[in-house]
Amino acid sequence: MPAVELFLAAELEVGEIRRVELAGRTDIAVYHLDGEWFATDDLCTHGEASLADGEVDGDEIVCPFHLGRFNIRSGEASMSPCAVALKTYLVWIERGIVCVDIDG
Ligand code: FES
Repeated sequence: MPAVELFLAAELEVGEIRRVELAGRTDIAVYHLDGEWFATDDLCTHGEASLADGEVDGDEIVCPFHLGRFNIRSGEASMSPCAVALKTYLVWIERGIVCVDIDG
């Protein structure tokens, strides 16, 4: 499993999102929900928006461009104009560091 260490978990408050650049790969967005961590591709599947610039609303990320939505847990598009799901990634905390499986 290609695990990558990203940043200290303490750096991201509950409800916040961080965009992470990974060499040679698409950027990902890391979400800290209430005690849970998730990651998806950062690029909206509807346009050129960075979802890390959007707003978390419950379990959903609201795209900053056209206000489409995705379920953060599953990546499923949950509100138009978004229709194509986001890729999701397994995230866990190890020694206080946010880690991601970049193969999904
Ligand atoms: S670019 Fe995200 S909803 Fe259009």
